[in-house]
Amino acid sequence: METPAILEQLVTDCQAALGHDDTRARIHQLVQAVVVEPAKLADQIPAFASGEVEVSPRGFRLGGEHIVHQSPDLTVMVLDTLPGVEQPPHDHAMPAFIGVFAGCEEQRFWTRTDDGLVPTTGRLLEAGEVVAFGVRGIHAISAPDHAPARAVHVYLGDIYDVDRSVFHPDTLEEFEMTSDRYDEFCRPR
Ligand SMILES: [Fe+2]
Repeated sequence: METPAILEQLVTDCQAALGHDDTRARIHQLVQAVVVEPAKLADQIPAFASGEVEVSPRGFRLGGEHIVHQSPDLTVMVLDTLPGVEQPPHDHAMPAFIGVFAGCEEQRFWTRTDDGLVPTTGRLLEAGEVVAFGVRGIHAISAPDHAPARAVHVYLGDIYDVDRSVFHPDTLEEFEMTSDRYDEFCRPR
């Protein structure tokens, strides 16, 4: 996928928002603004070709991923979530912002307690909506509709170069995040 100009601009705007007292609020607003007219944004972001969607070792197709920007203080990407898979709970170890621009994401949330992970709530994230996570945020995503959920993801750090966790979907036991373990903890739905 070629990066559309609107996402190049989002990166520039996010970089300008870094290092302020209210960086998180600014980034939240920027992600909200970029998905405010979701159909218009969807028109500018090409669909992933089938060859761009990896099949995991266990046969799951999670969705295409296009990295727009990756640096130690900022990651911006387009991420599709395909139906048919319940993805496992995980953290990011950094603030994260997700703005959906097509389809619908089912978001489930957990919180850490002295007794381990506890489910809190969940919500459907429709096109045009944004969810923001703090450093300790834990979620799992799936696409409840029979269509991909497409979203812009912004992380305040390098999401590919950080120690973070994935949790067993049944026991909620915590493990170091690796792509293989993430795959192992996916379930068909
Ligand atoms: Fe996530």
